[in-house]
Amino acid sequence: MSIVQARRWLREAESVAVITGAGISAESGVPVFRGPGGIWRKYRAEELASPQAFAQDPKLVWEWYNWRREIIAATEPNAGHRALVEIERTVDDFSLITQNVDGLHDLAGSRHPLKLHGDIWETVCMLCGERRINRDVPLTPLPPHCTCHPKAVLRPAVVWFGEALPFVIWEEAEAAVKRAELVLVVGTSAVVYPASGLITIGMRNGAHTVEINAHRTPISDTVDLCLSGNAAEILPDLIDAGR
Ligand code: OAD
Repeated sequence: MSIVQARRWLREAESVAVITGAGISAESGVPVFRGPGGIWRKYRAEELASPQAFAQDPKLVWEWYNWRREIIAATEPNAGHRALVEIERTVDDFSLITQNVDGLHDLAGSRHPLKLHGDIWETVCMLCGERRINRDVPLTPLPPHCTCHPKAVLRPAVVWFGEALPFVIWEEAEAAVKRAELVLVVGTSAVVYPASGLITIGMRNGAHTVEINAHRTPISDTVDLCLSGNAAEILPDLIDAGR
């Protein structure tokens, strides 16, 4: 089985769900989390990406997010992000589910990415709960405050370890993989639950499953087809033959 088979499934599917992870943005220059050069090799997740860490030292946590925002601000969507926009144009029932918080799918032109882990370009007030887009780089002073109250601290609108995924987005994502005839899993280590559970839900509901990844992952043996390599090359190749 090969990319020819994946192209055929894509051409024939009336409903497609795509699940992306950090690997799709790697080619743009956004660091991945695991593996060589991964963020979690340098930092401990629970020391920075958890409610406890934020309660203890909001300035430190924000400095880390400021650093990541600076890196991401200097990047652009790549051919992989753009290929997904093309696919979205040709499939009636298309869903893009992402674990990424970098906003590159939006920048590429994807219409409604379901952001399971939030968005690094949004803040939420810890007091009034208001969510706002904020693209300041760097963000100062830290931690930022809300206008609702002098003591109201803003946090990044991302999901931290130990927190639940946004319920409505999860429901939409789950429904999408249940409907899908084809589930494309792109650039994710597939080890972070519950996001990785969506792949299994797709399989159980009869979808063809195709993984696109630079390396093997725990799902490589269970998906129908593995396309090994760079997402920025394989995704455009998937649509080259036209629909
Ligand atoms: P990871 O860093 O865990 O995995 C990135 C995956 O992308 C790996 O499987 C790589 O082999 C693959 N990869 C790297 N470069 C690639 C390329 N150019 N083309 C294709 N594949 C490539 O990232 P995620 O799976 O997205 O959560 O991580 C999931 C979650 O773990 C993140 O959303 C984040 C993190 O902790 C939260 O912050 C809640």
